[in-house]
Parts: sequence; C-alpha cells; structure tokens
Amino acid sequence: MVCLAACGEGGPPAPVPGEAPPLTGERLEQGREIWLGTCGNCHARGVAGAPLIGDTAAWAPRIAQEPAVLHAHAIDGYVGPDGTMMPAKGGNPSLTDAQVRAAVDYMVAASQPPQ
Ligand code: HEC
Repeated sequence: MVCLAACGEGGPPAPVPGEAPPLTGERLEQGREIWLGTCGNCHARGVAGAPLIGDTAAWAPRIAQEPAVLHAHAIDGYVGPDGTMMPAKGGNPSLTDAQVRAAVDYMVAASQPPQ
C-alpha cells in the first residue's frame, strides 16, 4: 500500500480509482453489494466513459450536485455533456429505486477525497 498524507492520521486511506473498498454501515454495505452486482461493470473499469469509483477528481463536480439529482440520474438515466450515457438503473430494471439510491450513496462515499 502507498502511504500518502492520510497515513498515520487515523483517517481512511485515499481512494484508489477502480477499487471498491468495503465501507462500514448497513446502508453502505448493502449499497456495495448492489454496486458490485450491477454498477461495477462500468464504474470499476471506465466502460462507456463511466467515471471510475474512487476517482475523486472525476466525482467532485458530480458530488457537488444535490444528492437527489445524482439519485435521479442513476434511476432515470442520464446523458452527460460529452454524450456519454448512464443507462437507467445501470441497465438492470430489477433493481428498486431504493437499491439504486443505496448504490449511488456507496459510490459517492467511496469517491470522496481523504479528509
Ligand atoms: C453501461 C455502463 C454503466 C453502468 C452499468 C452503470 N453506469 Fe453509472 N454511469 C455510466 C456513464 C457512462 C456515466 C457518465 C455519464 C455522463 O455524465 O456523461 C455514469 C454516471 C453515473 C452517475 C453520475 C451522474 C451525474 O449526474 O453525474 C451516477 C450517480 C451513476 N452513474 C450511478 C450508477 C449506479 C448506481 C449504477 C448501478 C445501479 C450505475 N451507475 C451503473 C455508465 C454506467
């Protein structure tokens, strides 16, 4: 493991783009399971222009939006300014809206810059 400024300060390690770390908390644990099942197909590998989980620079302007906007983009689908497309529910219509929101919250939590 590479030790950056956060090491030894008790904070979580810096996110690594493309890696989906286990996070504590029931909601985040459920979100990670859903994320691994559907969302990681694109967001772990940058498929179709998807922003990588843990890529803090790519996520900062997205996280700056209201959480409700991020949730709606993931549930209803979204075409970004560069023409890259987030399919509704990641192309998995069997997911409930609540499951998609939990997966979004997990990906956001895993893509925050270290405090
Ligand atoms: C087929 C590939 C693919 C899958 C599967 C996928 N995504 Fe995405 N996602 C994308 C792409 C591409 C973008 C970037 C769209 C853009 O901003 O141009 C994106 C963007 C997003 C965004 C940012 C939206 C914004 O407003 O900036 C969120 C949140 C998101 N995805 C959540 C999810 C969740 C949750 C899942 C699983 C349920 C998922 N994605 C599955 C391709 C995918």
